[in-house]
Amino acid sequence: MGSLQTPDLPPSNLPSIVLVHPTQKELHATRTLNGESWRHELSLPAYLRRETHLENQDLTKNGGITCWILVDGLAEPNKRPILASCESLRKRALIAREDGKVEESISHGIGSVFCNPEFRHRGYAQRMIEELATKLDTHQQAAGQKAYFTVLYSDIGKTFYSRRGWHAFPSSHIALPPVSDEQEGTFPCINTRPLYSHDLAKLCEQDERILREKMSTNMPSDSKIRVALIPDVHTMTWHHAREEFAAKELLNRAPEIKGAYVKTDSGDQVWCIWTRMFGPDNTLHILRFMIEGETLAHSGEHEPRNLEHSDHSRVRAARAVLQAAQLEAGKWPMQQVEIWNPTPLVILAARQINPSIRVIHREEESITSLRWHGDPGEHTKVEWLLNEKYGWC
Ligand SMILES: CC(C)(COP(=O)(O)OP(=O)(O)OC[C@H]1O[C@@H](n2cnc3c(N)ncnc32)[C@H](O)[C@@H]1OP(=O)(O)O)[C@@H](O)C(=O)NCCC(=O)NCCS
Repeated sequence: MGSLQTPDLPPSNLPSIVLVHPTQKELHATRTLNGESWRHELSLPAYLRRETHLENQDLTKNGGITCWILVDGLAEPNKRPILASCESLRKRALIAREDGKVEESISHGIGSVFCNPEFRHRGYAQRMIEELATKLDTHQQAAGQKAYFTVLYSDIGKTFYSRRGWHAFPSSHIALPPVSDEQEGTFPCINTRPLYSHDLAKLCEQDERILREKMSTNMPSDSKIRVALIPDVHTMTWHHAREEFAAKELLNRAPEIKGAYVKTDSGDQVWCIWTRMFGPDNTLHILRFMIEGETLAHSGEHEPRNLEHSDHSRVRAARAVLQAAQLEAGKWPMQQVEIWNPTPLVILAARQINPSIRVIHREEESITSLRWHGDPGEHTKVEWLLNEKYGWC
């Protein structure tokens, strides 16, 4: 593209620059442009249809998704240059302080941060993120209330967003290889029950109830503020709408198995909910790994503290659902199974499958980042619980 086609661009500190919602035409233009970066194997028309499909899920419809563009507020809609763009997805969240009171609140996850390649390095993305911080203080909050926290998943390292208040949190994972049908016979595993879409609502409700109980009873003695995005069914089905769209488009079949479930000898439930991500590296991601009765691990804690007797059967059950994930990955063109911020018991389970499993700490991609919108002095006290893949957007 020659510079002749580049419109006159305002300096990024121009006072009239504002963050607004795009018109339909502007949204289409934005997605047509960012599709080149994010559509991967999908054709551009399919990518545009996917984005519309994802806007109409339980999580996103009725204002659940908000599209933002940075423009000169004095310029005319549909004619103004779109200086940068992004989206925010409304998410239910829990916050617990020392007094044991658990409060539900609205949080947002930011995604699709993008600047036209011809407009880059002029400070527009920076200005957009600063404007967004102010918008998200009150966006969709009840009158007089302020957001407690918002999140994003940076693919450009830790510096850019942390300078603007979204600080990097533990961003680790473990990965296991797929297991093929031929290998299945030599792969000793406990039988697990496959999870289908219709199983998820009940399990997510249980998960939320257990999370609320844990947050209110295991209060931090060290004046931490504990926060979590609620792993609810609308969040899971948004991921599944994404995988089903891509699978139908690329492979002409839709994945039905959404996870695996098993009970330990003593009756504790262990399950994981997964999704397949089709991209440059096809990965079966564990969205949520739930081990009933597991002690609430500190975020970033990898080594188990004192293992109780019942933990050994939890580890065996966790190994079984991991193996079910490996088998499922083998039935799809998935290159690996990935588990984000695994708890000590999940790591032990993975090491029973492969003793040399290492915890990988990401430095550039998918850096889980959180902004505390409350008192700035409090941000170092924030502990992000259940910082797993389901929160990604
Ligand atoms: C990331 C992006 C939005 C930045 O837009 P921009 O308007 O050029 O950003 P700004 O001018 O405000 O700030 C530029 C700064 O962004 C940071 N940055 C941009 N791309 C980066 C990358 N790949 N890795 C690390 N930092 C990066 C740098 O600090 C850069 O500083 P520089 O100009 O001195 O090189 C743009 O490069 C883009 O759309 N990239 C493709 C999509 C993408 O990766 N989005 C981010 C998803 S988390």
